[in-house]
Amino acid sequence: MPVVYDEKTERNLGKIHRGTNTPWISPFSSEDGQIEKYDEFSRWKYGILGTIKPKQIFSGSSKICFINDENTVFKYIYDLQIFGNQIWKEILIYKKRAKKYFDLLPKIFNYGKFWMVEEKVKICSESQFYLMTKIPYKEWEFFICNMNMPKNSGKLPFNAFLKKEKRRLLKKYKNLDADSDLKRHIKYTNKIFENEILLKIMEFCYFSGILICDMHIENIGYKIENGKKVIKILDYGYDGKD
Ligand SMILES: Nc1ncnc2c1ncn2[C@@H]1O[C@H](COP(=O)(O)OP(=O)(O)OP(=O)(O)O)[C@@H](O)[C@H]1O
Ligand SMILES: [Mg+2]
Repeated sequence: MPVVYDEKTERNLGKIHRGTNTPWISPFSSEDGQIEKYDEFSRWKYGILGTIKPKQIFSGSSKICFINDENTVFKYIYDLQIFGNQIWKEILIYKKRAKKYFDLLPKIFNYGKFWMVEEKVKICSESQFYLMTKIPYKEWEFFICNMNMPKNSGKLPFNAFLKKEKRRLLKKYKNLDADSDLKRHIKYTNKIFENEILLKIMEFCYFSGILICDMHIENIGYKIENGKKVIKILDYGYDGKD
């Protein structure tokens, strides 16, 4: 049962969605009006989905993501204990930053305290990542594991922060135990600091207080926009605070 999320889909309320052969529903029309309550809502959604077996499910450590319809996914948080309400954190960041980072963030069409209907993007593979950035994914992974993104982001101008961090990183690499990959790490770290797309991801994390180490492949997707593949961050709820 896909959840309605815009004017066009609202017109379909109650009608059968061809993809799943189930009716479109509205999360706001529950009889008891308790939809915003996590327990109620997850039971409700589980109940429905338990009987229809959604086409595809992806889950991470605290969220579950279902295909909602051709263009969107339905995501909700099932564990508030480990990292807090990551969905709500994402929504607050989206409200604040979506204008500036519109090309980086999938659109959020509809949301509640514990769920959202979000633009569906394609899952990124390591080879896709390379095609889009010209940086081998393993080198980006190495980079984000070593980069130090300050918690009090924003105190230093972004460019000054980058300059300082680049110096620190290159020095740090040299102290790594006789790493045979050292030359490659240095080469690609230099390239990452010149890469427009990856700089944008770093900038977004810097000003949103998101941990850069969370920008691993599972949290990155892409879309084809105007014939060009564009990277999208599909999970930006982790600020390491919970
Ligand atoms: N907009 C989207 N379009 C397509 N797939 C998505 C979208 N958002 C999430 N997914 C898929 O669902 C998975 C889980 O979503 P998400 O990363 O938000 O959950 P999580 O529990 O926070 O994961 P993590 O383990 O990183 O904490 C993603 O790794 C991805 O495969
Ligand atoms: Mg994730």
